[in-house]
Amino acid sequence: MQHSPNQPIGVFDSGIGGLTVANAIMRALPQEEIIYFGDTAHLPYGEKSADAIRYYSLRIAKFLLERHCKMVVIACNSASTAAYRVLLEFFKGQGLFVNVVDPLVESVAARRFQKVGLIATKATVQSGIYEQQLLHLQPGLEVHSLATPLLAPMIEEGFVHNDVSQVVLESYLGHEQLQGIEALLLACTHYPLIKTEIENFYHHQVEIFDSTDVVATEVKRKLAEHKLLNEQRRHAHRFFVSDYTPTFEQTTRIFYQEDIVLEHYPMW
Ligand code: DGL
Repeated sequence: MQHSPNQPIGVFDSGIGGLTVANAIMRALPQEEIIYFGDTAHLPYGEKSADAIRYYSLRIAKFLLERHCKMVVIACNSASTAAYRVLLEFFKGQGLFVNVVDPLVESVAARRFQKVGLIATKATVQSGIYEQQLLHLQPGLEVHSLATPLLAPMIEEGFVHNDVSQVVLESYLGHEQLQGIEALLLACTHYPLIKTEIENFYHHQVEIFDSTDVVATEVKRKLAEHKLLNEQRRHAHRFFVSDYTPTFEQTTRIFYQEDIVLEHYPMW
């Protein structure tokens, strides 16, 4: 299918955490128009089975492509690990796809660490995709993954930079699984919001990687490769959610600097 540069970029996540990625794309490519979809009706994906996440992701990608998106960015680690390959196959030739795993893996593997840690949702850790891809690029690398399911809801409730977040983080990061690491991958779209706290926990002795800027760079690279970089944005960004509550709208302020109007799209 032929695309043109002035078509929008679709970005989706299980909810509003993917706004960290959307934000990075908007910063890197201010001339691009974004259509964001947060599947708030099914949040959190991190607790769902891979089959369920694949089903939701297929439906959402179809929605974004029907809205003429030239590219779909899977701004969710749980969906990227469960559904990326299926989406590529299913929508072959209908649009470009970017996931949040590959750019992060490539940036970490390029550094040739010996021992790295990873924190993410249960779905992402159980998929084993990060280990597989890291080891593919750097055989012999030690990868220690830990599911940290309390972090995403904690961040959504605004518990960052306070005593509660401090205790929860110390308990997770102090886990024996993560001892002696040189770098830590934040493999969840919510975690960039607590990056400073994590850096402080390690007294800046462990390098922290997240997928915001590396994904934005990959989006730019892929659009340029296909001669699809927009020159001037014509429409405002739009933000859809599959379930609406005023709380979701308030919570977006944690992830996005400006006020956002969420449009309810009852997909399910
Ligand atoms: N956005 C999800 C991810 O990056 C975290 C939240 C969820 O579990 O849905 O994995």
